[in-house]
Amino acid sequence: MSHGPATPLSATAGALTGAAHVPGDKSISHRSLILGAMAVGETQVTGLLEGEDVMATAAAMRAFGATVEKRGDVWSVHGVGVGGFLEPEDVIDCGNSGTSVRLIMGAAATHGFAVTYTGDGSLRKRPMARVTDPLALFGAAAHGRSGGRLPMTVVGASDPVPVRYEVPVPSAQVKSAVLLAGLAAPGETVVVEREATRDHSERMLKGFGADLEVGIEGDANVITLRGQPDLTPQTIAVPRDPSSAAFPVCAALIVPGSDVLVPNIGLNPTRAGLFETLRDMGADLTYENVREEGGEPCADLRARFSPDLRGIEVPPERAASMIDEYPILSVVAANASGTTVMRGVAELRVKESDRIAAMADGLQACGVTVRDGDDWWEVDGRGPGGVEGGATVAVHLDHRVAMSFLVASMAAKRAITVDDSGPVATSFPAFRSLMEGLGARFS
Ligand code: S3P
Repeated sequence: MSHGPATPLSATAGALTGAAHVPGDKSISHRSLILGAMAVGETQVTGLLEGEDVMATAAAMRAFGATVEKRGDVWSVHGVGVGGFLEPEDVIDCGNSGTSVRLIMGAAATHGFAVTYTGDGSLRKRPMARVTDPLALFGAAAHGRSGGRLPMTVVGASDPVPVRYEVPVPSAQVKSAVLLAGLAAPGETVVVEREATRDHSERMLKGFGADLEVGIEGDANVITLRGQPDLTPQTIAVPRDPSSAAFPVCAALIVPGSDVLVPNIGLNPTRAGLFETLRDMGADLTYENVREEGGEPCADLRARFSPDLRGIEVPPERAASMIDEYPILSVVAANASGTTVMRGVAELRVKESDRIAAMADGLQACGVTVRDGDDWWEVDGRGPGGVEGGATVAVHLDHRVAMSFLVASMAAKRAITVDDSGPVATSFPAFRSLMEGLGARFS
């Protein structure tokens, strides 16, 4: 799964106007395929994100014995039941997708066979011990490269035991890996989470009929899952992705004259931190037609050019609810007045790239002052339209870094070029055509 030769890209824009229909939620898309594959019978999914990351999960589920196919607009998954995965015939290549490899490692680790996982140059650098450590408690053994990196073989537990595990880093992927492993183990698997992360796994497991309870002990969430349930196939309408919505929303805030509607965005509180932060910065961003769909709050977002954005200190306790949005937030911060301070974000260093380093290097090449430390960074705003631009920036195989700099380019004095736009296809293949529909131009 590689993108072939690098494809540089640059963007400019006049006022952005119109409606931006962003694709389905990446996190929910992965989970609908994995849980569909672990139910007996046919799960039907509409609105699935058809990006490379989710397609990697689809291919993996086929390798484990499920049938996954698209009929018209509906993705159909015929599952093999909890504990029913078959031994894959080949290596599972998860491409760029940390969510795929970590969730699937969990789901497969309580099956009595070995699976070898790999990924692209970005994924092979990312830490996997955070997942294989708790999987070892179930009885699975991991053998990988130094530093707990891919390629890696996980020998699954043929006689798994349930575990109680306190997640040491704020990570929905780790939490989900443990819960998915707990499905094929007998008894109660318990996950303790001190910092709340996205809760799509918990919501969807309940939707598929798993016996799962979320309680509070002191300041922690305690999630208890009873193992070996019969999961019942579901009909799932995937909501649109707030992390993808972030790009047209932020572009509208910083490009003069813009007025953009982004309909039907999931506003699950574990995901919506960016929008609150933008409003705290003085963004003209409103929620219209607020409603509930499939148990998730959602709204149409309306974003208009906001000439009075001001830098703020982002509350660190909000970090998990906007962890994927710091790259694009730093672009908004560069177009605000004053300094934006982002603390408690060490996790940004182990995403598809070291996102603090990638954004800091690129922003500095465009004339923006950035200071950073292990788990914090600060961006000095240059006011509306104040980013000089004119540079070529490296995206380091990171889709969100690429899209962030393309949005930055639309508001900069001189266009910014990203060295490779290929990674955008991992999460948002229609990014370019959607932004062109609002009035942006790419070259
Ligand atoms: C995801 C969780 C987050 C996020 C990733 C998707 C998920 O990672 O960055 O894009 O779907 O569970 P962590 O949970 O590792 O922070």
